[in-house]
This record gives sequence, C-alpha cells and structure tokens, in this order.
Amino acid sequence: MRKSGAGMRKNMNLKITCIPGDGIGPEIIAEAKKVLVKAGEKFGFVPDFTDILMGGASIDVHGIPLTDEAIDTAKSADAVLMGSIGGNTSTSPWYKLPPEKRPEAGLLKIRKALNLFANLRPALLYKELASACPLKEEISAAGFDIMIMRELTGGLYFGERKTVEENGVRKAIDTLTYDENEIRRIAIKGFDIAMKRKKKVTSVDKANVLDSSRLWRAVVEEVAKDYPEVTLEHMLVDNCAMQLVKDPSQFDVILTENMFGDILSDEASMVTGSIGMLASASLNDTRFGLYEPSHGSAPDIAGMDVANPIATILSAAMMLRYSFDLDAAADAVEEAVKKVLADGFRTGDIMSEGLKQVGCSEMGSLIAERI
Ligand code: IPM
Ligand code: MG
Repeated sequence: MRKSGAGMRKNMNLKITCIPGDGIGPEIIAEAKKVLVKAGEKFGFVPDFTDILMGGASIDVHGIPLTDEAIDTAKSADAVLMGSIGGNTSTSPWYKLPPEKRPEAGLLKIRKALNLFANLRPALLYKELASACPLKEEISAAGFDIMIMRELTGGLYFGERKTVEENGVRKAIDTLTYDENEIRRIAIKGFDIAMKRKKKVTSVDKANVLDSSRLWRAVVEEVAKDYPEVTLEHMLVDNCAMQLVKDPSQFDVILTENMFGDILSDEASMVTGSIGMLASASLNDTRFGLYEPSHGSAPDIAGMDVANPIATILSAAMMLRYSFDLDAAADAVEEAVKKVLADGFRTGDIMSEGLKQVGCSEMGSLIAERI
C-alpha cells in the first residue's frame, strides 16, 4: 500500500484495484470508472485501474472466491473499488459449495487480509428522494444523516465456530470475542469522524447481557475522554433498532460491533427508502480502503442496463475523500449526483411519476457530464 495523502502532486496516478464481481457489479463499476476518469480530467489525476476477480466470478475461473494473487494485487494498490458479489442463494450453483468456498467467503477473506476493521455506512435522506422514505411524514420531515461505524474484522464473524454431535444431538457453536485494542481502534475512528460531523456518538451494545458489550462500553468511555467536544451516549441494540424507525434524526455517528452493525445498517438503509443511493467504505489504519455500494448484486436485473450506479459512484467519491484526500473532487462527484436528481433523472428503483427514467449507463454518463 503506497503512502498517499495531502502531499500528492497534480496529475498523479491513482492506483485503484476494481472488483466488478457478480450480478450487476460489472455494470455499476463501469459507470464509476467513467465518472472517475471525468473527475480526473477536471481535478488533475489519472485513475489507473486493475481488475481482479472475486466472488462467483472467481469461483467460475479458479474454483475459489478469492485467490492469494488477487489479494496481492489489491494490496499493491492505493484503494479498492468493488461492485457487488454473490448470486441467487436458492438457484445458483455457487451455493451448493461448502460455506468457505461460496462468494461471501471472498468478501470476508479480503476484509481480514487487508485489515479493514472500520466500516463506514452512511444512511441519509436526499431531499429529492424524501418521498421514498417509508416513515410517516412527520418523522421524515426532520430529515436524517447517519454514519454507521461498524467494526468489521472481529466479533461473531471471525470467532471460532464448529458444529458437533453430542449423544446424537447436533450442536453448533459460534464465539463472540473482542479485545480492548480491537474496540479502541474502531472507537477512535468513530470519534474522529464525529469531529467532522455533528459531534455526537451513539455507541450501541447489549451491555445488559453480554460481557463483550460491557468491555465495549468501558473502552468507548475511555476513548471519549480524549474527545471532550463529542457527546457520547450508549444505547442498547434492541432500543437502537426501534429508535431508527421512531426518530432517525437523533443520530449522528452510530458506533457498534460487527453483527449489530450488519443488522442496523440494513435497517438504516431501508429507512432511507433508496438503498440504490448508499455508499460504504471499509478502512484500515492507513489511508487504504475498500469502497463498495451498500446494496447487493441484484442477479435478477443483471446485464439489463437498469441498475442504479449511484451508490457505486458515491463510493468512488468516498474513495477520493478518504484514501486520496481529494476533497474537492469528491465534492464535485457528490454535487453532480444531486444535480442529476434535481434535473429529474431517475433509474427504475427511485423512479416517480413525471420524471425521466434512464438506464445504468445513461445515468453514469449524465453524472460524468455534470462534473
Ligand atoms: C454486508 C453483508 C456481508 C456481511 C455478507 C455478504 C457476508 O451482509 O456487507 O453487510 O454480513 O458482512
Ligand atoms: Mg449485511
């Protein structure tokens, strides 16, 4: 991973590894590339793309969802831009394979191999799409802009697991482990990000039941001492699930462990009503990151040029911001997206009456034109 950051020169090459992946992945990645090339022309950088296979696409060629060579290619870049992986879990032959050979195993492997412990999942309501919000108008009128910070390389996902048979009874065991260092580093990222936002952190746990949550709460309290300007509150995960639909405007940064973050980020994305718009970033402790849309691979509409590329394009904007310090270029991409919405263009998933419906590729071009 090359050092990059504020000291970068103009017309620099950005080494970006792309993972088109499965389903609509290749189509949405093509549009993000288009937008990055255009942003580069305007802001003086040249994206240098190398594609790798992951997920089903890799299984079809190599028999496994991610090869070590592909990981090395990703490691040699400055950032990774991913489309989506996986197929239809009931019909695709990939899901007849043992769990460690299925598409999702590739995703878990790359998260761990690149040490991507901090997962940022913004959930915000675009004013142009406010009518898509499934909440009552008196709630959605307040608007919301939440950053879910999910720990991504620990907890239940990476604890020991096994299935055994005892006295003829099958038994499965998954373990939830966190050490204080794992909690501290994600908490620091959470507070750092809150400092650039509304300076509020809601740490979500299940401290009334779980030891790992009690340690989580204690370490988050310690980290908070270094951020006197940030307001910290603790919330139990079940209550948080409820508050997200009751009053999402109360949240700024939600800081939580891996499994809770998986579930709450899906809930938050649904509350926006436009999951096709939501980006995400997974970061390690350097400027390196993997950027991907929050949505899945939508195999039912793959190859039809109808997918919404905006979440991937906004993920590329996050990449410019977090991995390359190119804030002005990132702003320009985000503004171009807002402009395209304001101009009345929509893909099918966010379409409403009287507006102009366009396909995936046209949406990418319309955004690129507005940079
Ligand atoms: C996500 C996904 C993954 C996860 C799956 C595909 C393993 O749901 O990125 O949220 O659970 O982390
Ligand atoms: Mg998930």
